[in-house]
Amino acid sequence: MFIASAIDFTDRPAAYRGLDHQLRALLAGERDPVANLANTASLIFHALPDLNWAGFYRLIGTTLVLGPFHGKPACVRITVGKGVCGTAAARRQTVLVKNVREFPGHITCDAASASEIVVPLLKDGLLLGVLDLDSPQLNRFDAADQAGLETLAATLVAACDWQAALSSVK
Ligand code: SME
Repeated sequence: MFIASAIDFTDRPAAYRGLDHQLRALLAGERDPVANLANTASLIFHALPDLNWAGFYRLIGTTLVLGPFHGKPACVRITVGKGVCGTAAARRQTVLVKNVREFPGHITCDAASASEIVVPLLKDGLLLGVLDLDSPQLNRFDAADQAGLETLAATLVAACDWQAALSSVK
């Protein structure tokens, strides 16, 4: 059984180092993307203070499709280029939004969300999807969150066999 340790986020860089350590332990020995996305969403949602949503959208064709998450039910499909998620996907760069009401085209899934950060999942330059975190607090995320979450995203991408999601039973 995996038991997540409580993490003190007073020192954010140190907290993310600890969380990355926990994530590596949590994903060790498992290569299935859906299982690993689900456990990563859970770990992040329960570890980080002041979140109301944490989860993934996977890139399918030219659309981001809802993946494993914690929080309220969310919009299922987001076109690349639309909203905060689609903007991060199109740029292949993290988008940090201090106030979602000031982000043109922001897509509201939960009216409680006030700030948001979206980190692309990239493997060898290819976009696989995005990690999306929402907070009910304005200006919840900073550069330390961005750096820490980008490290977690890289750990997750490296831990998965992305072809496994495509296999089927004959
Ligand atoms: N706010 C996001 C949509 C996804 S939800 O926040 C879970 C966006 O603008 O892309």
